[in-house]
Amino acid sequence: MWPASVSIREVGPRDGLQNEAPVPTADKVRLINALGQTGVKRIEAVSFVHPKAIPQMADADEVWASITKVPGVHYSALVPNLKGTQRALDAGFTEIEVVVSASDTHNRRNINRSTEESLGEISSILAKTPVEVIIATSFGCPYEGDVDPARVAGIVDRVVADGAQRVAFGDTTGMATPVRVRKVIEAVRANHPDLPLLLHFHNTRGTALANVLTALDLGITEFDASVGGLGGCPYAPGATGNVATEEVVHMLHDMGIDTGIDLEKMIEVAAMAEKIVGRELPSGVLRAGPRSRIIT
Ligand code: COA
Ligand code: ZN
Repeated sequence: MWPASVSIREVGPRDGLQNEAPVPTADKVRLINALGQTGVKRIEAVSFVHPKAIPQMADADEVWASITKVPGVHYSALVPNLKGTQRALDAGFTEIEVVVSASDTHNRRNINRSTEESLGEISSILAKTPVEVIIATSFGCPYEGDVDPARVAGIVDRVVADGAQRVAFGDTTGMATPVRVRKVIEAVRANHPDLPLLLHFHNTRGTALANVLTALDLGITEFDASVGGLGGCPYAPGATGNVATEEVVHMLHDMGIDTGIDLEKMIEVAAMAEKIVGRELPSGVLRAGPRSRIIT
């Protein structure tokens, strides 16, 4: 049985735009404001990271101060450490995601710390404020290859013991497949049957919607997605963005699953996103329109 509704967190303004050539602050604000009118209830708006690491997010404070906050929409920020958490709290965010990679090599490249060191810092963060913990490279690491689901489950055990009340699993470079999704979720569920879990897929190898469907079958009801499938990396050949929000919504609505999102409006925002980044985005639903659109 599929769930009656699914909660989608739009991550295009953060995960998408951090991987595109930098866009002006005003365009980010326009994009987030337009997303706020689509019915989506959660938007990851910015990240508070080192501006040298990700120059695209250097204007996070300005973006956050400039957007029109829509009542009922939950805006969040991603952070890599205590300093980022403090910046997010100072800016007025009440919803924060802290990221750590399951694989040590990726965590060192991304955050300049071992996984163990980051988990220590996350423990201090959780002692200070509730945050969602995002475990990146949960389904595979571009430097280390397969990641043992037991390692991912072990990280969940740690952060839950430290007070995390929700956990997300990032498929950072699109290495997830349905069978790996199943293994990770089953490994985590063994110790935490009721913990809210969110899945974050990239469509690098074309498996993202299949992964979403697999996760739905396993009772997962929260997903990240980015409008138009924004993202990728100009320096990493073959890297692509998150699964496109309108592709997920299109599939879910046809399955009778409510998202609260107006599909046509989301497609309009995807077209806007395409203009903002100045390149064709990979979303098939943006290209072809929904299946209900009849050619006259
Ligand atoms: N935002 C802004 N500045 C930060 C920061 C943050 N979140 N965290 C640390 N800094 C500053 C420190 O204050 C320090 O400043 P100073 O030199 O003026 O004293 C300086 O950065 C170095 O601090 P350190 O803790 O040694 O950081 P680092 O050089 O080891 O870098 C990160 C660690 C986490 C800050 C950096 O790797 C980073 O921002 N990574 C994010 C990568 C990312 O966003 N990836 C995509 C999302 S998954
Ligand atoms: Zn991502």
